[in-house]
Amino acid sequence: FSSGLLAGKRVVITAGPTREALDPVRYISNHSSGKMGYALARAAVDAGAQTILVSGPVELATPDHVNRIDVQSADDMLAQCLALVADCDIFIACAAVADYRPGTISTEKIKKGPEKISLELVRNPDIVAAVAASEHSPFTIGFAAETNDLLAYASSKMERKGLDMIVANDVSDPAIGFNSDHNAATVLWPGGSRVLEEASKATIARDIIRLIADRVSLIRD
Ligand code: PMT
Repeated sequence: FSSGLLAGKRVVITAGPTREALDPVRYISNHSSGKMGYALARAAVDAGAQTILVSGPVELATPDHVNRIDVQSADDMLAQCLALVADCDIFIACAAVADYRPGTISTEKIKKGPEKISLELVRNPDIVAAVAASEHSPFTIGFAAETNDLLAYASSKMERKGLDMIVANDVSDPAIGFNSDHNAATVLWPGGSRVLEEASKATIARDIIRLIADRVSLIRD
């Protein structure tokens, strides 16, 4: 792993979950711990990149030499990412962004009432697709967290969202993926793929950064 792999490159990484408020005391979220995204930030710094983490709420310390911007909702994360995109060479979307948010946020705590109530959810904006489609379009990498038909869903996500690379992450096995210290993945790009066998998230992150550096130097230099 050469420390000059990404020298001079500006990398933005999203990490962790988003929180979608229901009222002043409740929210919808998911089990992302941020560990994978933070490991990627550490690996990007080790590769010599200037690294920014746009992070949902997590219980992790900020890695050394990483500039961290904290956000809550998908809307907040989108606004921060779009503000950074003009000064970004490589964008890695590792966050588990909520696909839907409550249609209205109650300004007061929702009171207990009838036996059944229902919740209207509206679609959140797609952050990685918006970055890939932006005028400054950096080299853009997404993740695909799937429980079934992993590679087929991942490659269709890569195409639909206009990505340069996607990391297919099987999240049906609790030993890897969400919240675990380990992961395993298949990285796909147009015309190629690489299987990353189960390893610590630190090792997987370094492998992903190496693959990104290879593709970036091939395509953009
Ligand atoms: O945080 P950890 O506990 O370490 O767990 C790591 C992880 C399992 C969360 C991570 O490895 C992972 O797979 N992250 C992506 C999770 C996800 O939301 O996948 P998805 O298949 O729903 O989304 C596909 C891609 O679009 C992702 O790059 C996601 O960041 C992005 N997306 C999704 C929805 C949305 N509204 N905006 C987005 O940018």
